[in-house]
Amino acid sequence: MTADTSLIRFGVFGDNRGSLIALENGHNLPFDVKRVYYIYGTKEGVSRGFHAHRKLKQMLIAVRGSVTVKCEYGDRKKEYTLNRPDEGLLIEGLVWREMHDFSPDCVLVVLADEYYSESDYIRDYETFLKENGK
Ligand code: TYD
Repeated sequence: MTADTSLIRFGVFGDNRGSLIALENGHNLPFDVKRVYYIYGTKEGVSRGFHAHRKLKQMLIAVRGSVTVKCEYGDRKKEYTLNRPDEGLLIEGLVWREMHDFSPDCVLVVLADEYYSESDYIRDYETFLKENGK
């Protein structure tokens, strides 16, 4: 799987009552979802992540608040600010990711195409650099 990251904007159903977003496999979600988790109540100054996955596809959505996501793969280093519920960050393949600057109200929803598996994690940065081949 080629490592890649991209922002995806979701269509919003909005009317005078407010807004609604629907995510559907194969439509605005480019993978079948097997797992959903969310990170919230992150304490001030705390950063999370600091790992890569070998194969996983994930979509990160700050449904409330904001967070900065740093991604590294191949020769690339990218930094994204997620701060709107109609935008998702797609992360595929061998990407080192770190999450910083969580706002106190941040709720970060993560959709994944596989079940939780510790064997798919690379938690050691030096190991990531070796597997990244750079
Ligand atoms: P961790 O990998 O430290 O989260 P992050 O990298 O986002 O900071 O996960 C925290 C704990 O939650 C750890 O004990 C593993 C567990 N966990 C699951 O059981 N299932 C999951 O889907 C995830 C993402 C974590």
